[in-house]
Amino acid sequence: MSNILHITASIRGDESVSNALGNRLVEGLVAKGGASVTRRDLAANDLPYVSAERFAANLTPIDTRTPDQTQLAAIADTLIAELQAADTIVIASPVYNFGVPATVKAWADLVARAGTTFQYTETGPVGLLTGKKVYLAIASGGTPIGSEIDFMSRWLVFFLGFLGIKDVEIIAADGIMGADGADKIAAAHEKVGQLIA
Ligand SMILES: Cc1cc2nc3c(=O)[nH]c(=O)nc-3n(C[C@H](O)[C@H](O)[C@H](O)COP(=O)(O)O)c2cc1C
Repeated sequence: MSNILHITASIRGDESVSNALGNRLVEGLVAKGGASVTRRDLAANDLPYVSAERFAANLTPIDTRTPDQTQLAAIADTLIAELQAADTIVIASPVYNFGVPATVKAWADLVARAGTTFQYTETGPVGLLTGKKVYLAIASGGTPIGSEIDFMSRWLVFFLGFLGIKDVEIIAADGIMGADGADKIAAAHEKVGQLIA
């Protein structure tokens, strides 16, 4: 049985285009493969920004942490364990100001842990989260995904690759505020349909 980690980030709940795409994809993957699903809703806005103390705690090995450090590192431990346990990761996210929502960046700052999710080597950093498949379900009002002004998917794909996750499939409903917005959404749903057929 496969383990799906389903990450959401839109502040628009049931109105969200990225959520609708991601939800349908996850439902289809479950129907296909009998997967278990762990949900992480970043729009709940309950992740802390990294701080000097938390960063130090996150890098301290579990058995040498002080009680304070154990508490500070707990959320990153949980997020990293979610990633490690997943073989399939569905990230549904809007484009906010040409990048990822700040909640997604906060998540990234917590899960990038040297020695655990990546490591430094003589030939540069190497990702340790290998063998995973990621689906990115993206919605944007006007920013074309894959264009020069798309720092969202470009950054997220690079970041995931840095962690060793190189198999990334993008489903984009981009430019949904344009005249052909409904067509863009329909095309993205069609792609989801093909992926879960
Ligand atoms: C704070 C904020 C910033 C946004 N910035 C952009 C942007 O830079 N480019 C863009 O195309 N759309 C932008 N949008 C529009 C959203 O990407 C668009 O509404 C999209 O549908 C949101 O995804 P969702 O439907 O999953 O919530 C922004 C929306 C918000 C709320």
